[in-house]
Amino acid sequence: MFTKLLVAVSLALCAAASPVTIRSAPISIPLARQFNLTGAKTVLELDQARARFLKHGSASKSKTRAKGAAATGAVTVPVTNGVVTYTVAVDVGSPATTYNLIVDTGSSNTWVGADFENPYFITSTSQDTGAEVFVEYGSGLFLGEEFLDTVSIGGVLNIAKQSIGAAEFAEGFDGVDGILGIGPTDLTSGTTSDGGLVPTVLDNAFSLGLISTKEIGISFAPTTNTSTVNGELIFGGVDTSKFTGELTNVPITTVSPASEFVGINQTITYGSADGTTVLASTAGIVDTGTTLLLLATDAVQTYQSLTGAVLDDVNTGLLQITPAQFANLQSLFFHIGDTTFEFTPNAQLWPRSLNTAIGGEADAIYLIVSDLGSPSGEGLDFINGFGWLERHFFVFNSANNTVSFATTQFTDATSN
Ligand SMILES: *[C@@H]1O[C@H](CO)[C@@H](O)[C@H](O)[C@H]1NC(C)=O
Ligand SMILES: *[C@@H]1O[C@H](CO)[C@@H](O)[C@H](O)[C@H]1NC(C)=O
Ligand SMILES: *[C@@H]1O[C@H](CO)[C@@H](O)[C@H](O)[C@H]1NC(C)=O
Ligand SMILES: *[C@@H]1O[C@H](CO)[C@@H](O)[C@H](O)[C@H]1NC(C)=O
Repeated sequence: MFTKLLVAVSLALCAAASPVTIRSAPISIPLARQFNLTGAKTVLELDQARARFLKHGSASKSKTRAKGAAATGAVTVPVTNGVVTYTVAVDVGSPATTYNLIVDTGSSNTWVGADFENPYFITSTSQDTGAEVFVEYGSGLFLGEEFLDTVSIGGVLNIAKQSIGAAEFAEGFDGVDGILGIGPTDLTSGTTSDGGLVPTVLDNAFSLGLISTKEIGISFAPTTNTSTVNGELIFGGVDTSKFTGELTNVPITTVSPASEFVGINQTITYGSADGTTVLASTAGIVDTGTTLLLLATDAVQTYQSLTGAVLDDVNTGLLQITPAQFANLQSLFFHIGDTTFEFTPNAQLWPRSLNTAIGGEADAIYLIVSDLGSPSGEGLDFINGFGWLERHFFVFNSANNTVSFATTQFTDATSN
């Protein structure tokens, strides 16, 4: 018999001043932030590669997924090449092995074994499904065998008979053991050789009665150093200590390809809620695996003409402003549903203490507003990556396909 758990985990950045009101018995799991820019690519190049994959990988999916995808090697779903990734500790099997998995709202298979020094182990709780699994990501791929096994997320959410991939080959996942896929279940379509969908950890936690709503909340916070535990993943409800004001609920957008992900409609203005339009009402996605705030090329051109920002194409690939331009920088306003979310000048900055970590100059002022690499009007015209999510609480409800946002104690922080 499973009982509903009520677990509160306090975190590095969580100032627990007021009493925590827990709705729907949610289960909170700490998220560690890993920062690792290596190799020749800039943060922008990595984000743009993921964005291309999200748009075009998904567009070709219905054709390529026709039959036994594991055999054809044709399944493509996006992920995760982030300079900054959020990871969670996941125990698998009995006796358990611990894996460090990327938390990804842009894909939905959960798998381990990316690091061959920490492979999947067959234990007393392993059940081989006999199916092969293959998933290709923007920056890598894995293939292997699909098992059912006991999966314990963050030591507090224990899911029996979770479908989980055991990698036999993986490429492009340095420094992590695999992925905890928490996006829409449909993204698992065709990933295994027996066809059909693979229930996600959220689906199973709900059907086992461990949580009472099929809902996932994500709380990130700005940070000024490279490695810290400052986020929280909440299964089965909302932790009201993580946001301020009311939640705004909007349906997943109907516009493809954003509709395949955690996609929303949004309008962006500059200067004030009814200021200059930067991006007219259009569809895009919210994505934990993208570092920056990516906007369609024409929107970035408008933003540049409003702010005077110029591209640093030598070192970082980011837009850059002078101190005088920063003094004049205005807020962006994100219109989502009936609510307008302000995104302050400070929120638009790349954290200055991390300038040199991305190859920039220590005293420069870089912006996280960056070019998606394609024009608006293509059904995926922005990605609110975690530079945006650090300022807003975010909920994905996969039962009724809604997304919710709220302001947080960090919305107006001047940490950057
Ligand atoms: C950072 O990335 C490099 C190469 O991509 C990898 O070898 C290393 O293990 C990573 N470090 C961490 C802490 O993830
Ligand atoms: C890293 O950041 C956390 C929270 O942002 C802070 O508590 C900690 O002191 C920082 N560590 C260093 C070495 O700056
Ligand atoms: C989003 O925008 C599209 C295009 O304007 C519109 O058809 C749709 O009704 C809007 N809302 C949703 C939830 O998709
Ligand atoms: C979806 O479910 C959430 C939480 O249960 C609720 O707050 C929201 O109003 C629902 N949205 C719709 C459109 O039913």
